Amino acid sequence: MDDGGGGGGIPLSVSGSSSGVALLSRAARIESALRERGIAELAPRVAIVLGSGLGQFADSLEDATSIPYADLDGMPESTVPGHEGRLVVGRLANQTVLVQQGRIHLYEGWSARDITAAVRAFAGIGIRDLLLTNAAGGLNREWEPGTLMRIRDHINLQEATPLEPDEAGFGNPYSSEVTAAMERAAEREGLEVQSGVYAAFVGPAYETPAEVQMARRFGADAVGMSTVLEVLAGHAAGMRVGGISCITNLASGIGEHPLSHEEVISAGVKASTRFVHLLAATVAEL
Ligand code: HPA
Repeated sequence: MDDGGGGGGIPLSVSGSSSGVALLSRAARIESALRERGIAELAPRVAIVLGSGLGQFADSLEDATSIPYADLDGMPESTVPGHEGRLVVGRLANQTVLVQQGRIHLYEGWSARDITAAVRAFAGIGIRDLLLTNAAGGLNREWEPGTLMRIRDHINLQEATPLEPDEAGFGNPYSSEVTAAMERAAEREGLEVQSGVYAAFVGPAYETPAEVQMARRFGADAVGMSTVLEVLAGHAAGMRVGGISCITNLASGIGEHPLSHEEVISAGVKASTRFVHLLAATVAEL
């Protein structure tokens, strides 16, 4: 499904087009679709990608307009239960915010570039800040389901990258400005927020207990199947990037009982009030 094109909102041509007509990269197609729909004119400053079970946040936007992915040329479709598959644009804390409700995963068969094409398009229409959220398994026994964790760094175990060879980044892609905004927001709302390292596996199988132990020895605090590719693409495209994990369960082998997707969704829904407060307050502080 890789369109072979790069990102950054630049219409790259794809070789092998015998007609000589340049095909646009997926990112460029999404960017044009957003422009055609008048989204760029609304000048959103913040984009938020919602993880499994966290879709309720989109309901907190005022004057919201939603566009199903199917109506956006180039947008891959999400096939995972708990992921809606639409973009919602609306107002929150005096800012225009664009929410991606329904994430695309590597394990659905899309490439790293497909998955991050929307993020590139968001940067292309001038969005400055990118907040990525996910549901994750916790490695710390003391973290109850529903714990919120600011992602301070990550370990990419997905063996994939959305970056072009000339986009090699250095160091930590998580923005110190977004971190500071999130910390002020947590304090203002009186919310306890942990900070930790997120390790991304490919999925869709939940990790084995041995993989969880490996992640722990590597220094991870949470495990999941998303986010890191979008972080890399957003950072490479010049956005200020932040991440929040909602710890929905103890990771495999850490807790007592086997995991289920339903448990992940229902813990996400239970945590969603605090999660919505933290996100909204963070947007207000950006
Ligand atoms: N592992 C991977 N992804 C997850 C988990 C987990 O334990 N919980 C929620 N998403």
